[in-house]
Amino acid sequence: MQNSQERGAWGSRMGFVLAAAGSAIGLGNIWRFPYSTAQNGGAAFVLMYIIFVILIGLPVMIAEIAIGRNAQLNPVGAFRKLAPRSLWAIVGMLGVATGIGILSYYSVIAGWTVGYFVKTISGDFSSLITQDVSKHIFESFVGNPYNAIGYLFMFVIFSAVVVMGGVSRGIERWTKILMPVLFILLILLTVRSVTLPNAGEGLVFYFKPDFTKITAGTVGSALGQALFSLSLGMGAMITYGSYILKKDNIVISAGYVCLFDTMIAIISGLMIIPALYFVGLEPEKSGPGLVFVVLPSIFAEMPGGFIFGAGFFLLLSVAALTSTISLLEVAVSYLVDEWKLKRVKAVILMSMIAFLFGIPSALSFGASTWFTKLPIINMGALDLANVILGNYSLTIGAFLISIFVAYKWGVKSVFKEVESNNNIFYYGKFWAFMVRFICPVAIFIIFVYIIVTGEYF
Ligand code: TRP
Repeated sequence: MQNSQERGAWGSRMGFVLAAAGSAIGLGNIWRFPYSTAQNGGAAFVLMYIIFVILIGLPVMIAEIAIGRNAQLNPVGAFRKLAPRSLWAIVGMLGVATGIGILSYYSVIAGWTVGYFVKTISGDFSSLITQDVSKHIFESFVGNPYNAIGYLFMFVIFSAVVVMGGVSRGIERWTKILMPVLFILLILLTVRSVTLPNAGEGLVFYFKPDFTKITAGTVGSALGQALFSLSLGMGAMITYGSYILKKDNIVISAGYVCLFDTMIAIISGLMIIPALYFVGLEPEKSGPGLVFVVLPSIFAEMPGGFIFGAGFFLLLSVAALTSTISLLEVAVSYLVDEWKLKRVKAVILMSMIAFLFGIPSALSFGASTWFTKLPIINMGALDLANVILGNYSLTIGAFLISIFVAYKWGVKSVFKEVESNNNIFYYGKFWAFMVRFICPVAIFIIFVYIIVTGEYF
């Protein structure tokens, strides 16, 4: 058995909370949440999202952290230790594989954000541009294989460098610098956005719920978004939880992470949605291109847009980096614990795999016609990876994790873990009820729904 010095541990409770919040806060909050909200009708979607975070996200997060801290191991090792000689280790393996898979396509988009930072700095958006021109700039950027693969490679290297530094001297140290930067940039940009002409209409759309807009599809999107945004369902929180000290209160830490993640998502909507009204765009028509197509043309129209544009893409890159390091850390901790590899070797191996798997996704925006529209399924490689890994696999993972703590490892064991060192399990009864009866059932129903309708988040 390795001691905790070799595995690594957080230096303090704040260290864990920042690193876990860094994992949770990412492209999911700043890029996906605003356009999902815009597409799904605004305030009503936001409300449902918050309900899912509290009723499903928080309980599953407490479960993951408790598993990790009790086992002091990566997801595969943790399931092996808590349920010896059973098939549960497969859930851990699914998690490790999903993590590398998500890392591979997530780094593609993260790479674009770096590319767009460079483009803004070099003045590509300094003169007024129309939506069409902006779209053309985007398509030629992502359709260029050298850009697409080059920036992917660059981003994988960034994550690798941080993770190589280890838990406290790499991940914790970097997130302590990056998270405040992220927060300051976000606040500055939001203030700019809500003071633009016509921002008021955007605020109404964002804050006044219209419940007629809620459909089964919206419910599915809200849950999927909550799991993805909180980094649940694949053992990222098991891994980060395995480095927590015994004296920390798991419930309070998990509460902070959910709170910060939700706050940042909501503020991101506040930053982006009013800006759409500024240029007279209907939010419903937005989509994944929002951030890369619509925003540059808005920045070009704004006084001081050059600075805000550069700040915005830097913000996205920083947020993405604190997430990619958690995705990489899951697989690295697996190799370190189970295969006794040195951290540096494990990082090199896993980043290489993520890079190679990322290439089809990187080429799926025009650089390769084959990967842009795969035969039969008629989807791009990145979209396909996101549906299988970012939606299906995380939903299955979150379902199995709640079943595991509720019926295999047992609610009592979670209580024992949370209450170690005389900590109090706040809302423990509520948690136990949710994780036994509500989480698995709700997740299951929504999963069946997305399979049957073929709709994905
Ligand atoms: N939560 C991150 C985001 O919102 C993405 C992410 C990082 C993630 N680690 C994860 C998602 C683990 C699922 C599982 O962008």
